[in-house]
Amino acid sequence: MPYCRMCGSGTVVVHISYAKLYLCQKCFLEFYVKRVKRTVEEFKMFREDDVVGVAVSGGKDSAALLHSLHNAFPKLELKALHLNLGIPEYSEHCESKVKTLTKILDIELQTYDIRKELGLTIEDFKKTKFKRKICSVCGTIKRHIFEEMAKRAQVRVLATGHNLDDVTSVMLNTFLNGQWTQLTRIKPILPPLTEGMAYKVKPLIRSPENENLLYCLYGELPIRTIGCPNSDTAGIKKYAKMLEKFSEEDPNFKHLLLNRFLELIPLMEEKFPKPTITRCRICNFPSSNEVCAYCKRISLVKGYQTRNNIVK
Ligand code: AMP
Ligand code: FES
Ligand code: ZN
Repeated sequence: MPYCRMCGSGTVVVHISYAKLYLCQKCFLEFYVKRVKRTVEEFKMFREDDVVGVAVSGGKDSAALLHSLHNAFPKLELKALHLNLGIPEYSEHCESKVKTLTKILDIELQTYDIRKELGLTIEDFKKTKFKRKICSVCGTIKRHIFEEMAKRAQVRVLATGHNLDDVTSVMLNTFLNGQWTQLTRIKPILPPLTEGMAYKVKPLIRSPENENLLYCLYGELPIRTIGCPNSDTAGIKKYAKMLEKFSEEDPNFKHLLLNRFLELIPLMEEKFPKPTITRCRICNFPSSNEVCAYCKRISLVKGYQTRNNIVK
């Protein structure tokens, strides 16, 4: 039976092909945490005396993120931020996983429930012209509310669980479609658009998706076991599948691609200056239009509710 390459005595449970490593459970968990620590330090995502908000969804990536940050930086003050989107069964399930995880780690949890706060849920967009684009509306709503949650929690930095696979497939998508300005927004550390907003950081940018799942399984972390009923990631999945194919030929492919994109982004930022940012006349958030995408979408649901005398 092969023994772990790191400790020499544990039974091998993971093969990290791009690093030619065979690891036992304990050494894999250590290897994972060390990479998260190195990534935070490499991109100077935060200092140990910062208060860092972590967007925790109930899924494997953000559970691995919260747990590994807690292990990598024991002195760091973390606040878990969870958004309940009001999706029947799914949202309650996710929130209960987040509650259990934060209890185990003894980390403060702040939850934003969109039904209570806004009088609507993600389901209500099914009554609007976005009915076939629920996932995309959900992304816009989430990004806006994350800003609000970071502000309420008074955190300077907000970490999300975007992983190597997410980031490289979105990068490839924006690259092939020539969406240069969007490409520059997929950075490991994104400064605030205006003063008073949080820095967005991605400490798992170098962590492959399957390793996040293994970290949760071996670390016995509570994670959701059901999928979002509205999930529709067909476009991005196409690129993720392409990347899988390339990775079969070269296990290092996604890592190389990420590194080349990270070199390309500063050049793109120089060539394609940021669009002028004004403020949304409704919510006052930065926006390139008079009314931001979030407010436009919320007003569609509110309009529907008013026309149909719906009170939530
Ligand atoms: P997604 O866009 O669903 O792939 O999620 C990317 C990241 O956003 C996750 O890893 C979390 O950090 C964060 N996130 C997504 N959904 C939620 C949620 N409902 N509550 C808190 N954080 C979330
Ligand atoms: Fe947003 Fe599924 S979590 S639509
Ligand atoms: Zn707005």
